[in-house]
Amino acid sequence: MTLVELSADLTTVALHTAATTYAIRIDRALGTVRPIHWGPRLTADAAATVPAWSAPRADSWEGLLDGAEDYPVDGGPRFGVPALAAEFPDGTAGLELTFVKQRSTDGEFVVVLADSHQPLTVELHYRVRADTDVIERWTVLRHTGESGTIVLHRHDSAAWCLPMRDDFRISHVTGAWSAEGRLHRDALPVADTVLASRRGVTGHHANPWVMIDDGAAGEEHGEVWSAALAFSGSWRITATRTGTGRCAILGGAGRDGVPARLEPGAELVTPVFAGLYSAGGFGSASRAWHDYQRRHVLPHPGELRPVLYNSWEATTFDVTEDGQLALAKAAAALGVELFVVDDGWFGARTSDRAGLGDWAPNPARFPHGLRPLADEVHRLGMAFGLWVEPEMTNPDSDLYRAHPEWVLHVPRHRRTELRNQLALDFSRPDVQQWAFGWLDALVRQTGLDFLKWDFNRPFTEARGTAWTGHALGTYAVLDRLRAAHPGLRIESCASGGGRVDLGILARTDQVWVSDNTDAVDRLGIQDGYSQVYAPATMVAWVTDSPNPLTRREVPLRFRFHVAMAGVLGLGGDLAAWRPDELDEAAALIAVYRDIRPVVQHGALFRLRPPETGTPAVQYVHEDRVAVFAWRVGADFAPALGRLPLHGLDPAANYRDDDSGQVHPGAVLTGPGLALRLPEGSYASQLIRLRRI
Ligand code: DGJ
Repeated sequence: MTLVELSADLTTVALHTAATTYAIRIDRALGTVRPIHWGPRLTADAAATVPAWSAPRADSWEGLLDGAEDYPVDGGPRFGVPALAAEFPDGTAGLELTFVKQRSTDGEFVVVLADSHQPLTVELHYRVRADTDVIERWTVLRHTGESGTIVLHRHDSAAWCLPMRDDFRISHVTGAWSAEGRLHRDALPVADTVLASRRGVTGHHANPWVMIDDGAAGEEHGEVWSAALAFSGSWRITATRTGTGRCAILGGAGRDGVPARLEPGAELVTPVFAGLYSAGGFGSASRAWHDYQRRHVLPHPGELRPVLYNSWEATTFDVTEDGQLALAKAAAALGVELFVVDDGWFGARTSDRAGLGDWAPNPARFPHGLRPLADEVHRLGMAFGLWVEPEMTNPDSDLYRAHPEWVLHVPRHRRTELRNQLALDFSRPDVQQWAFGWLDALVRQTGLDFLKWDFNRPFTEARGTAWTGHALGTYAVLDRLRAAHPGLRIESCASGGGRVDLGILARTDQVWVSDNTDAVDRLGIQDGYSQVYAPATMVAWVTDSPNPLTRREVPLRFRFHVAMAGVLGLGGDLAAWRPDELDEAAALIAVYRDIRPVVQHGALFRLRPPETGTPAVQYVHEDRVAVFAWRVGADFAPALGRLPLHGLDPAANYRDDDSGQVHPGAVLTGPGLALRLPEGSYASQLIRLRRI
């Protein structure tokens, strides 16, 4: 199949994905790209018969006035949100672009535009693939002159224009520490709705994706257009809806008020702002995003993520070699595959007040270094991992005393401490070199298999390019470290889920989704996470009861069933678990290891949302099915008798792995699967089915 197809009259380009088409028309007269179609499959010749939205004549300004362009720049009669706003060395602002050329290779289509008066070229990049409906778009801005700085006040990656509909609704998530992933689905106002991080990091409070529908889509039906940004620094997404009925989504890196500067000969490559059209509702949009991450984003998509144990909730900063060894032995006996020592193993880090930046094992806690513990963990048959927070330092540290100039700061201003720490400026090459140096040595000398890479405060007192350049510097260190240690696996963490996006997922293997390990709260957090991000990256720990954060008491089985719906981990004080709890934990870990390929590599169907009080999710992978159902509170929750399943063959039969009962597929997808939830609150059930 041709991915990039030109119409016979050469006017229209159709970019084909697995099941959709994005069609554009290059307006050479006005130096712009007009969107034609974003929806079900359409040939280039059919698309050529479609007038550009609201633009009856090819060279007409009509339709540009409120932003029906793939990359609306500031300049001329345009009054909507610009994707690009520039100020030139001669003091003028505003662009007048002309068409230069277009080219296409292997699913990539590029349109090159140049300003008629100023030394700036704008390259619009589109990439489509035959195995996904996600389209990647980004822009390259190049200073082609020999002198003067071009100031970029706005430099978005792309604008995604939606077809006109009578109404529009927006879905996105908000959150806070320990309350990530709260899903909002609201009418899109006739206004510019801006979601942004001005924190230097992706953020808990918002996440760089949106979904737009016409108000009628549901979990498994209706049209949904979505977009997600691959960036982990400050970012901004604008969903703009005009009084004339138009809707567009613009997105890119940057922080309002902090322009980027383009020097002669330099180029700025924006992050990818990927777009997706789905005809099968929010659930199908989520599955397409998950599938895209598994095929084209994650570094090791074919692997199964191990069952891990993390020491944080058991020991916090009270880390000793003997204590960790005792936990490691208990974890290994349960079937854990990866043992991770969290914060507190290094420098003077006996609390969060000191030591961050001094990455040598604490000699009182590890008199012979980390190697003996690492060797013992390996001998127990587990991989060994360590917590690090490379981008931060405590003022009370040898690092800060030696290099106070390395932190983000503004001369004479207060250096704001959050969690008693300051952020290092990773846009500095010397800081990157230092970070790579000690990380490389730590991995090599300790025999590390895994890093939990944390980031525990937003930026303050950052100057200029650090708002975005820090993230690029972090990417550079991660990329170099991974290249030097191909066996190393990395978990992204930022006080829980403060750094999850398509940019960090291209460089890490999994995400610590939230510091809130309360299984009931977690149902909502995981539902929000799964809207865009793959369950194969969603780490969830079973911890102690009552929960250390919420004090809620929840049975072990319920806690396990919630964590087993992602990448299972344990995080409790195993020494305090009763023998019967340890037996039950070992049995549930064995069950998880059996259904892990289904959860981690399967298609997710969200059968019932958390707000029902009786949520349920289903995974389908090849001939296997896993269904998790929960009843939170027995008192007011509706009865949960039968659960119609999705993604099955109605003509096939499915056998229950545990009961041996055989269910016709048509019953499972029609009347539904009969549940056997135990009585009372915090009841849960996992059903494993196999097609026969
Ligand atoms: C925040 C993380 O989210 C926690 O899991 C833990 O690693 C702490 N940092 C350690 O300081």
